[in-house]
Amino acid sequence: MKTSRQIVLASRPIGEPILQDFRLEEVPISGAGDGEVALRTLYLSLDPYMRGRMSEAKSYAAPVPVNGVMDGETICEVTESKHSNYRVGDIVRARTGWRTHATLSADTLKPVKTNGAPLTTALGVLGMPGFTAYSGMKLLGQPKSGETVVVAAASGPVGSLVGQLAKMAGARAVGIAGGAEKCAHVKDELGFDVAIDHRSSSFAAELEAACPQGIDVYFENVGGHVWDAVLPLLNRFSRVPVSGLIANYNDPESAGADKLPATMSAILRRSILVRGFINYEFENEHYDAFLAELAPKVAADEIKYREDIVDGLEHAPGAFIGMLSGKNFGKLLVKVAQDL
Ligand SMILES: NC(=O)c1ccc[n+]([C@@H]2O[C@H](COP(=O)([O-])OP(=O)(O)OC[C@H]3O[C@@H](n4cnc5c(N)ncnc54)[C@H](OP(=O)(O)O)[C@@H]3O)[C@@H](O)[C@H]2O)c1
Repeated sequence: MKTSRQIVLASRPIGEPILQDFRLEEVPISGAGDGEVALRTLYLSLDPYMRGRMSEAKSYAAPVPVNGVMDGETICEVTESKHSNYRVGDIVRARTGWRTHATLSADTLKPVKTNGAPLTTALGVLGMPGFTAYSGMKLLGQPKSGETVVVAAASGPVGSLVGQLAKMAGARAVGIAGGAEKCAHVKDELGFDVAIDHRSSSFAAELEAACPQGIDVYFENVGGHVWDAVLPLLNRFSRVPVSGLIANYNDPESAGADKLPATMSAILRRSILVRGFINYEFENEHYDAFLAELAPKVAADEIKYREDIVDGLEHAPGAFIGMLSGKNFGKLLVKVAQDL
């Protein structure tokens, strides 16, 4: 009997996840029923939102149950089809989760459109993270020529595109990243005007010096001490698309000092627009335009991206844990199929 390997949530983490919170299992594979396709996973995307799925806290998506397969998007090859739209050998985007094989309803599959760029880009710069940057900037941040845009996690798939979109709009792009190597990449490879290391002891002063005209768009990816340094620099009528708060993902309940009154006061006095969003609220209306606009630029190397590809499904938990503290360098993916 054919089997699939899968990684399940063994226990809900308290604080930072540990390897024991995951379990690798081997289970039998079922064939495709009517309207279904059988898939083998080529690449698995590892994303910060998965930390939220490991928790029971109320969120915009249901948690993964304990002993359930970890959620996630993948690039797969169709190995059997009982649906007229798909043939054996087709390549699709699917929500298989962390497993080597899956059988899914064909209605849940999405096409892979990369305009000749590598398949992996469909999970990164031309996938959900890229669309998050695009929709957050185009619809919410709306940078104008001459303005200053700031983004953290700037070497990752969301932040790297935010900065490049800022430059395309004629704005100044200031990137924040962890460590000298990531900062060099952000400035020299991605073309940001300035890159600042958020681990520097003089981080807040360096950010202020890098933004002499203040900040017009802050694309919020991290929260924590980065937000503390950004808030005093936000200009009147600045925009803050809130995409993620990774600094708090392992400790969402942390109280600390109550900064809410000072924060709300700044928002009021400087007429700051703060808007949280989850990318898929814009998907139906804007995803095609995103691909039409950006896929040719990625294929032509006008938009740069970096990928961090880990080999083997068994290494997914360690890579995921590392991402939450910045050990990834670029879009984090797992090469699941061994013959690629
Ligand atoms: N709203 C949406 O629809 C949506 C969709 C996708 C992603 N997101 C969010 O966008 C953000 C970036 O996602 P991504 O996929 O592009 O991830 P990523 O950049 O590949 O990885 C996360 C990065 O966050 C940085 N980081 C972690 N802890 C930090 C801290 N305490 N302070 C500052 N930086 C920290 C690390 O980079 P450094 O080493 O540079 O610090 C780490 O590499 C995440 O918050 C994610 O949840 C939102």
